[in-house]
Amino acid sequence: MPFYHKLGKIPPKRHTQFRKPDGSLYSEQLFGTVGFDGMYSNIYHEHRPTQVKEIKKQYSVAPKIAKSNNLHSLRLKGFDVKPEKDYLDSRKTVLTNSDCSIILAAPQKSLKDYFYKNTDADELIFIHKGGGKLRTFLGNLDFKYGDYLLVPRGIIYQIDFDTEDNRLFIVESHRPIYTPKRYRNWFGQLLEHSPYCERDIRKPQELETHDEKGEFLVKVKKRDEIFEMVYATHPFDVVGYDGYNFPYAFSIHDFEPITGRIHQPPPVHQTFETDAMVVCSFVPRLYDYHPDSIPAPYNHSNIDSDEVLYYVDGDFMSRNDIEAGQITLHPAGIPHGPHPGAAERSIGKTETEELAVMVDTFKPLQVTEDGLKLSDGTYYQSWLEE
Ligand SMILES: [Fe+2]
Repeated sequence: MPFYHKLGKIPPKRHTQFRKPDGSLYSEQLFGTVGFDGMYSNIYHEHRPTQVKEIKKQYSVAPKIAKSNNLHSLRLKGFDVKPEKDYLDSRKTVLTNSDCSIILAAPQKSLKDYFYKNTDADELIFIHKGGGKLRTFLGNLDFKYGDYLLVPRGIIYQIDFDTEDNRLFIVESHRPIYTPKRYRNWFGQLLEHSPYCERDIRKPQELETHDEKGEFLVKVKKRDEIFEMVYATHPFDVVGYDGYNFPYAFSIHDFEPITGRIHQPPPVHQTFETDAMVVCSFVPRLYDYHPDSIPAPYNHSNIDSDEVLYYVDGDFMSRNDIEAGQITLHPAGIPHGPHPGAAERSIGKTETEELAVMVDTFKPLQVTEDGLKLSDGTYYQSWLEE
């Protein structure tokens, strides 16, 4: 996150002696991105964070591709994804390309038996159902319905869920996920026209420090494989850190919509970006107020991006028969737009309660076997007149 955060105990000067009550040194770790040019944090551990006892297993979790080249508009029934006990097993990649993956998950159990780390992708976890606590080695974040949890690559974490009824929409991105640059000034501060500001971003507040030796299983994801690594010290042994690289939470309910006299284009909904995709939030808002305005969107050609919409809640005014938990994929190359009757139906409406998350990827998405299983097969014909 492009602002400074400090948690726990740190010495007054970096890279200097920082000693425990018994006189021994804490172990400093620089946790940085983009070589030494990007955001970083300086972390102080009870033990050296390098103590790997064993790498037990290495196995593929690469999604199986069903359609590598897709020109069908698809509707995926996301709530048909079966709940599973284990957090990692529950994550089903439904769409993927070399930059990012779209994952649906319905985990029933908290992640407590092992720790998890994604080494080469940032994870944006949208909480559709459920609540609990994201526990990381850089502090904890409480979460609930509507939260985006941004977990930068390399963060070791566990998740506590309050109940077994959880639904997650996850974007795994090999490119770093940032807030949109056009909403930041040259110091990184969010500008006045940004739909959210620093006060809306929740930083880790509670640091768990476990000074323990033993055997600690960390499942580490790298290049679509899981490495089961056994660490000799507890991964949550940080006594303090400061810097810019840490997990954070932002609620979609804190996104302030930008509206206008006539239909505003999707970039006004933009919430996050990488150099390979954007993530937008469609939130309850007043409709366009020109006397002749048509609130439903116009037909549009996403000529050079695939468009994924994940429907969260409310009525989706431009769509017939779309339900919460469903994904629509409108691939690059063909236009899409309101369903028959939706444009007329929208005229005179003053507001919408719709809540949705959109991901536009600049490279085409492949459809996985898990994704195709959720498809109704007929959505691409849904624009035909009756
Ligand atoms: Fe669209």
